[in-house]
Amino acid sequence: MSLRRFPNASTVSSEVLGEKLCFPNGRQAQNRFLKAALTEILSTYVPDEPKKHGLPTDSILNIYDKWGHGKFGMILTSNVLVDPTNLEAAGNAIIYQEGESHERRALFTHWAKLMKQDGALAVMQLSHAGRQTPDYVNPTPWSASDIQLVSGVRYTTYGKPKPLSPEQVKTEVVDRFVYAAKYAYECGFDGIQLHAAHGYLLSQFTSPTTNKRTDKYGGTLENRQRVILEIYNAIRAEIPASTGFIVGIKTNSVEFQAEGTTLEQGKEMCRVYEENGFDFVELSGGTYEKLVFCHERESTKKREAFFLEFAEQIRPVFKKTIVYLTGGFRSVSAMVDAISSNVTQGIGLGRPITAEPDLPKKILEGLVPSAVQDQFNPNQITMTALASGTQMEQMGRTSVKSAGGDVMHQVSDFSCEKLVEKYIATVGAHLQQVSNDVNNGKRAKAVIVFD
Ligand SMILES: Cc1cc2nc3c(=O)[nH]c(=O)nc-3n(C[C@H](O)[C@H](O)[C@H](O)COP(=O)(O)O)c2cc1C
Repeated sequence: MSLRRFPNASTVSSEVLGEKLCFPNGRQAQNRFLKAALTEILSTYVPDEPKKHGLPTDSILNIYDKWGHGKFGMILTSNVLVDPTNLEAAGNAIIYQEGESHERRALFTHWAKLMKQDGALAVMQLSHAGRQTPDYVNPTPWSASDIQLVSGVRYTTYGKPKPLSPEQVKTEVVDRFVYAAKYAYECGFDGIQLHAAHGYLLSQFTSPTTNKRTDKYGGTLENRQRVILEIYNAIRAEIPASTGFIVGIKTNSVEFQAEGTTLEQGKEMCRVYEENGFDFVELSGGTYEKLVFCHERESTKKREAFFLEFAEQIRPVFKKTIVYLTGGFRSVSAMVDAISSNVTQGIGLGRPITAEPDLPKKILEGLVPSAVQDQFNPNQITMTALASGTQMEQMGRTSVKSAGGDVMHQVSDFSCEKLVEKYIATVGAHLQQVSNDVNNGKRAKAVIVFD
């Protein structure tokens, strides 16, 4: 298969990307690559049967078998949800007390093992969707305040959320995150990442657009960040740093929204994470109201990373906490430049690694200068996200062994224009079906199966 690749500004050695990273708690990542969290929406959805609800499937295990052969320094899971009624989508993996079973533990334990096959750290992203819970899952999800999400992604609608009382912040949020973190630890994961970016519940607390509270969880930035520190401290009380268990966070450098989190606030939050001993911070940006998995500014295009200019401003606050930057990296030269100029220490990759699950391995071996260049319009984020979801479904069809060792077995090559045309037509038909389903009050299929 001949894959078309992104242009590489200059031919540089990838050596710096192979350097280790040492976390404040002493753990090391074998190199600078982070597999970013990418929701697969391929776990079970059986809300009426708690023990069967939110279980990772064979598809999920096969997907991570592929990434487990990709030579990442750290692999994040997709968002694993901590509340079975506040999901990002039907098909999320879930960890919750009511769903406790040997089967669930065995599946999560196997998941961690597959992620670590070639030396990567296995880190679980924990999330609570709050008001970004689709209304077919729950018409009255939790949130910091009762601000309803109106514009959604993937033709989804959202109900008016219920504000959590201070007591419920403890029982419905803090306790659930701590339970899931302990579960991850017991299943052999090397750490967890709190998802506090992209408009999910923890960022509903930190963002002025969604937090209108007047109690100790609202108002000042210190108050808006409080729930995150309560979760962090409660996790550390159960699993101290001396265990080597890593605790990180994904946070928005900026939201690009009126009244949204500003760069100054993003920077102050990061200073607090550093001060409190977080092992790593992954910088991202945007919310469901303003998704920014593309370039907002002309000036960042050349250097590829969408949030690079913001990361540059935030970088000085990190002394011990390791910083990863995710979004937009496509060429080795831009990755090396971001690290050599010390804007970031690690490189997060999302969509490029559904096209090519072993991209880091190839880069480190000097075999490729950049990621596969798909032929979609990069500003059509929904299209590129759907394509990534499709590629993950394809990765999930076979284990590495049954694919004869080929981690790209059955993965569509979207650098081929003809295939992209065919895919866009398939998406058109899919969206028509979604629209019909939604109008008929049915839950629409999230993943497009494509051959
Ligand atoms: C299909 C898809 C699913 C995603 N799911 C998650 C998720 O579960 N958690 C998360 O923090 N970010 C998620 N993201 C955002 C990615 O982690 C990443 O920040 C974004 O894709 C930008 O990186 P990229 O330009 O390398 O793709 C998702 C993105 C895509 C395209």
